[in-house]
Amino acid sequence: MDLYLNFIRPLFFSGLNADPEWMHNQFIGTLAALSQRSRQPGFGWICDRLYRSYNLDDPRLAQTLWGIRFRNPLGLAAGFDKNGEVGQLWGGFGFGYAELGTATWHAQTGNPKPRMFRLIDDAASLNRMGFNNRGAAAMAHNLDQVGHTQDMTLDRAIAIGVNLGKSKITELDDAADDYRRSFEQLHDFGDYFVVNVSSPNTPGLRSLQDPDRLARIFDTLQTVNTTRNATLKPSGQLVSPSDNTETQSKCTQSKPILVKIAPDLTWEAIDDVVKLAQQFELAGIIATNTTISRDNLKTQMIAATGNPVTDEAGGLAGAPLKARSTDVIRHIYRTTNGTLPIIGVGGIFTADDAWEKLTAGASLLQVYTGWIYEGPNLAKRIMTGLLDRLEAHGLDRIEQAIGLDHR
Ligand SMILES: Cc1cc2nc3c(=O)[nH]c(=O)nc-3n(C[C@H](O)[C@H](O)[C@H](O)COP(=O)(O)O)c2cc1C
Repeated sequence: MDLYLNFIRPLFFSGLNADPEWMHNQFIGTLAALSQRSRQPGFGWICDRLYRSYNLDDPRLAQTLWGIRFRNPLGLAAGFDKNGEVGQLWGGFGFGYAELGTATWHAQTGNPKPRMFRLIDDAASLNRMGFNNRGAAAMAHNLDQVGHTQDMTLDRAIAIGVNLGKSKITELDDAADDYRRSFEQLHDFGDYFVVNVSSPNTPGLRSLQDPDRLARIFDTLQTVNTTRNATLKPSGQLVSPSDNTETQSKCTQSKPILVKIAPDLTWEAIDDVVKLAQQFELAGIIATNTTISRDNLKTQMIAATGNPVTDEAGGLAGAPLKARSTDVIRHIYRTTNGTLPIIGVGGIFTADDAWEKLTAGASLLQVYTGWIYEGPNLAKRIMTGLLDRLEAHGLDRIEQAIGLDHR
């Protein structure tokens, strides 16, 4: 029997009637405290139990992408651990990697509450958080404490992605510089980075998906990568190419940059972003963020506000997003012949959902809403199902499933 599905979820979703954001913060606070103490004996034992309960390690699920080892293809999506407080402990829940943030250069409180809602009849969530976070410097400090980047000497270590957004107070014309500051601050603390230009909850943010503005951001960040790669020691001193200590290469190597797009873009707009990503040698695309669509929802009213769901601002995630996000993945894979890696996210609840996105063309997957609904056993359940499907298709490794629908 699944304790979460039978007892905890009913209690959290209806019994306690507590604000979802409040509960989220309690959960993050608990995990953050555990993560910070994970090297102390008693706490280390709890982390070990977590890992043993919720992980399914199998070499067929592992892959190396951008020089980073992913233990399995399922990651925690951005927005869950906004300040990077839990870090490596996400591996304890069976995730192959975790994307932290969105971090902005300036700390900001986000939109007025309430701003996070569950649409239970639709297996969905609606949020208009507005990038509430303590800023890039605070995230760097947190990640320093709770494990950043993949430590190859630890076999349980997971890859860490860092998702960057524009600060609300920064003008759109100055966006590239705002992203650059965060990128520089956090450069050594992430295995890969994401330019988030697709949240519907920061005014004007999605207009950064326009080619001119996006080109400026990509150019600025890749210049940081190039400069760091060429000349800098962690201390900031110039070094000669022969001065190639392990620390230096870890801290100065260029980092893979991806862009996260909205599901509401037209096909033409998606093609424009893809072309730019190729032009600026980005590592890949994350498809997709939440949607502003409210089509085909069973939920009519948001109980917490008493307003019709169509009147509530914010991004919708979960089951109603699944088909569109898979279509976007399929489109990008087809138009690029599978040459640009895609992280697929939107409406994953089951192994079938995960398989659908992989075979449509996603190299990696992420989940947010599904984890709230399905609980901590989700990753293990999905991994079990993926292994079954690999066997059923006569495949040896998860990489062979990527884009299978197109062959
Ligand atoms: C409450 C909430 C907050 C989110 N915050 C962020 C964020 O800060 N940055 C980001 O890139 N995506 C954010 N997302 C979007 C998710 O990362 C993901 O793209 C989206 O929820 C679709 O996945 P899902 O259907 O598994 O939830 C957020 C989603 C939710 C539900």
